[in-house]
Amino acid sequence: MTATKGLEGIVAAASSISSIEDGVLAYRGINIDELAEQATFEETAFLLWNGHLPNQQELAQLKGLFNVFSAVPDSLLEQLKLYPKDANTMAVLRTAVSALALYDETANDNSREANQLKAIKLQAQLPTIIAAYARIREGKEPVKPLEGVSIAHNFLYMLTGEEPDATSVLALDKALVLHADHELNASTFSARVTIATLSDIYSGVTSAVGTLKGPLHGGANEAVMEMLQEIGTVENAEGYIQRKIQNKDKIMGFGHRVYKNGDPRAKHLQHMSRQLGLMQGDTTLFDISVKVEALVTGQKGLKPNVDFYSASVYTMLGIPKDLFTPIFAISRLSGWTAHILEQLDNNRIIRPRAEYTGPYNQKYIPIEMR
Ligand code: ACO
Repeated sequence: MTATKGLEGIVAAASSISSIEDGVLAYRGINIDELAEQATFEETAFLLWNGHLPNQQELAQLKGLFNVFSAVPDSLLEQLKLYPKDANTMAVLRTAVSALALYDETANDNSREANQLKAIKLQAQLPTIIAAYARIREGKEPVKPLEGVSIAHNFLYMLTGEEPDATSVLALDKALVLHADHELNASTFSARVTIATLSDIYSGVTSAVGTLKGPLHGGANEAVMEMLQEIGTVENAEGYIQRKIQNKDKIMGFGHRVYKNGDPRAKHLQHMSRQLGLMQGDTTLFDISVKVEALVTGQKGLKPNVDFYSASVYTMLGIPKDLFTPIFAISRLSGWTAHILEQLDNNRIIRPRAEYTGPYNQKYIPIEMR
């Protein structure tokens, strides 16, 4: 038995949710480029869960359920008030998702019907939790969700307490579509491993949130923003990147396990970053990003991934950098739960083997002789 480091190239599940073939990402067979240009996040979530785009009635019904479920239990809001104000936002989300199970009497019902409803519920509640904590830590009261608006709209509204402009809503909605699913990425794999033991959907999502938190996965978008802030001006970019390359440091937002010729999602976020910069009359972040891309691609051959331009996009939407990864979680929840449903439809516990590399034929030595 020989281990493959990082399970690279191992096909560990059969799935009909999303595909990455020849550098093309598709959800249920629809190219991500088409979805990014035309679909809303609500349509995308429905597509991932059900395998087809919703008709008008199905979409209206889903939006209605999102409205009904977007409030979170008061006891959970009270808990959020007790969390440290400087807590890691992904740790807050991980704890809150786990706590949500305590308030759902159907938490352990693993029927498809119950889990489908819980997926919709979680999708509606995650934005409310994140926005509420973001306000609580600033000493503000959480803002109740609006009815009849999209998830992107509601999130921006609950964060600021003000009606967001249409361009910001569109930009966030597009970012949510682009992050919604990505084949057997690390957090989705976690979700599938957890549910495959016949645990419960909340445990699956809690595992996934914990996995997404890491800087090699979803946490990279926040690290990208830290880098852009440290660089500060286009002129500083070259020296900064040279130092990183010389020190053999990882440059966040670049490289990908699956895409070696570029992440198809990055161009949409790059375009959005430019548009937002032009609209706001300040393209500094976009300009620094473009310079960094030219340097890193030119010298290391590494291409930007989905996290690279999302950092400048979210910052231009006025979102604090430690909410970037939680926003990723809002979007990816649709994919995680689609995979959880798919895993349960044809379940077998996921239990691979390990290549043993330790010593053999050792003897137990009594403690007084050690
Ligand atoms: N900066 C510098 N060097 C890099 C980077 C990077 N961002 N990415 C890869 N490399 C180097 C590796 O060090 C390795 O060099 P070596 O052969 O000299 O050791 C070589 O390129 C090949 O890369 P791998 O390590 O094989 O890539 P792997 O598939 O293991 O990792 C990962 C992929 C984790 C995304 C990696 O590229 C990385 O750490 N990127 C930065 C973090 C990041 O942006 N993560 C977000 C990924 S997208 C997402 O999860 C949403």
